[in-house]
Amino acid sequence: MRVAHSRSELRTQLLDTRGSGSDIGFVPTMGALHAGHLSLVRAARDQCETVVMSIFVNPLQFGPGEDFGAYPRREQDDVEAAEAQGVDVAFLPSVEEVHPPGRTTSIDVGELASVLEGEFRPGHFAGVATVVMTLFDLVQPDKAFFGQKDAQQLAVIRRMVRDLAVPVEIVGCPTVREEDGLALSSRNAYLSATERKRAMVLFRALTAGKDRLLEGAEVEEAEGAMWSVLSSVDGVQAEYARAVDPDTFRAPSRERVLLVVAARVGPARLIDNLLVERDE
Ligand code: PAF
Repeated sequence: MRVAHSRSELRTQLLDTRGSGSDIGFVPTMGALHAGHLSLVRAARDQCETVVMSIFVNPLQFGPGEDFGAYPRREQDDVEAAEAQGVDVAFLPSVEEVHPPGRTTSIDVGELASVLEGEFRPGHFAGVATVVMTLFDLVQPDKAFFGQKDAQQLAVIRRMVRDLAVPVEIVGCPTVREEDGLALSSRNAYLSATERKRAMVLFRALTAGKDRLLEGAEVEEAEGAMWSVLSSVDGVQAEYARAVDPDTFRAPSRERVLLVVAARVGPARLIDNLLVERDE
């Protein structure tokens, strides 16, 4: 595996790949790699000849008072995990390599970025869209792989790629869960053993919502069921429990409903989602 730290190193290391016409699969990450990230690498490996992974904690997507400083950074372990998984090029740039000092340009995808996560984390999706677009420009991948765990992020990136005619295919990959249902997230590292148990409530809430929908309930009832589960555990501060359309994050059709939840558990702010498909 080759490691690039600067734009020019990355360009040099991808020259051969581009010259030989081999297709590039890109897995953007903020590091602290877990089995969810590694499943993205496997998908990229299966579908593309060359796999590039970026490991970059992007300051633009953290608001004031959020966990930019505390976000787990494990460069050495990440590089080893990426190599073992078959990544060809790891890109670990500094902030200045990605965001030139004084940068004023940013990407706003509109309403989709201002609801739910966007409401609780103003500016977050502009930060995500801006860094992802910048990384796309640097890597020029054929396909890019994102986890469905961050469903609204995935929708924002798909929208950006469509609206700006970016020549990249976006591949959404299934959420990887622990046995008890907790979705893997780098932020799970913040949880104590007690908080880790409490965090299972997110998946329990989603399952309650799904059960209600499959029994034929209206989305409002499913939202109510999720909210009561989510807010029933001491030490868990529920933020939202909603049923939305998976592409627009507006009111869903009866057939395809994305259930989304967010809650604070101790120092961690966790999100999760479940897609429910119904006949008729
Ligand atoms: O999902 C993430 O880890 C980040 O939001 C991403 C897509 C790498 C952009 O910084």
